[in-house]
Amino acid sequence: MWEEGKIEAFRQRLLTWYDKQKRDLPWRQTSDPYCIWVSEIMLQQTQVNTVIPYYERFIGTLPTIKDLAEAPEDVLLKLWEGLGYYSRVRNMKVAANQVMNEYGGLFPTEHKQILKLKGIGPYTAGAVSSIAFNQPEPAVDGNVMRVLSRLFEIDLDIGKASSRKVFEEMIRLLIDPDRPGDFNQALMDLGATVCTPKNYHPETSPVRDFNASYLNDSWKNYPVKKSKTKQTEEEYIVLGLINNQGEYAFEKRGSKGVLSGMLVFIMVDRSLLRQKNWKEFHQDPSVIEANELETLTRYLKQEYGLEVNIKNERKGKCTHIFSHLKWQLDIYEGMILNESPGSRELHYIHPDAFDRHPFPVPTQKVWDLITKITLF
Ligand code: ADE
Repeated sequence: MWEEGKIEAFRQRLLTWYDKQKRDLPWRQTSDPYCIWVSEIMLQQTQVNTVIPYYERFIGTLPTIKDLAEAPEDVLLKLWEGLGYYSRVRNMKVAANQVMNEYGGLFPTEHKQILKLKGIGPYTAGAVSSIAFNQPEPAVDGNVMRVLSRLFEIDLDIGKASSRKVFEEMIRLLIDPDRPGDFNQALMDLGATVCTPKNYHPETSPVRDFNASYLNDSWKNYPVKKSKTKQTEEEYIVLGLINNQGEYAFEKRGSKGVLSGMLVFIMVDRSLLRQKNWKEFHQDPSVIEANELETLTRYLKQEYGLEVNIKNERKGKCTHIFSHLKWQLDIYEGMILNESPGSRELHYIHPDAFDRHPFPVPTQKVWDLITKITLF
């Protein structure tokens, strides 16, 4: 680590740059820990520009932690629609109730207490403590690890959870004790605007004189990020099934796994069907053959209590990528001829009412394909 004089010079250089260049973001206009917490959870999911309208809508609808604690789940999911990782917003409601019950509705001020709230890990606790309460706590995410790796030529794998602790210890030494929140956010801004993963030009950095990898011309080697384990691929037949009232059938997913508790069009896992002596589709199944259709129809009757007439021509196909999972979706349409109870939870929703329901992105993608006019 640098000696104290160099650390002080670094803080000054970084914060002077931040004061001039910092991005004007809505959560930087407040010191309300609730708002900062909401923004930090959203920012873990996607980029700043995407977050801004979500953040404004969320805070506009639920301006206080009490509002969040009392919000119905469908309102919350609607506010989160499209952001992904829906368990995060469900956890936020649990945490809001913790704050109401354990702290009389006042957000706890101590890092240790914040860390005990549901869904708050070291990154979020550090961000809220430093930004809202001026505590010298690190908030180390992937951006900050990239910045530090390059500054100090650190060859730890930034994809490994254990590396974060090392970076946190470095931040404890570097962080400006007078402006810890600004210091953390300055590193975030540096990572987002100058010290980027691609198109990185270290000579343009305000802290280039401190940057060991720039000075040693080794910057192309940092950060070290070993390739992640491959995503699992799953293939589904997705069915846009409509009843005689013009309503579509949606299945509510179970309480575990991806998109838990969310509404999706009926998805039939091909590997599951194969285990049941399903005769495999061809590799690119734009048409379902008669015997394949028969098996699928029988399956829908057994599992969902639905008698259906499925069009054998594929309506469209799309993919959806989660962090460790890739869905290949082949979409077909059909009519529901008869409904009887099955073992799955189905919801029938008319397209006119779609706006009122929170649909996850894969459901929206499938809907867009279903409504696309086929010209040929
Ligand atoms: N990314 C995560 N937290 C951030 C913040 N507070 N400002 C800008 N980018 C961020």
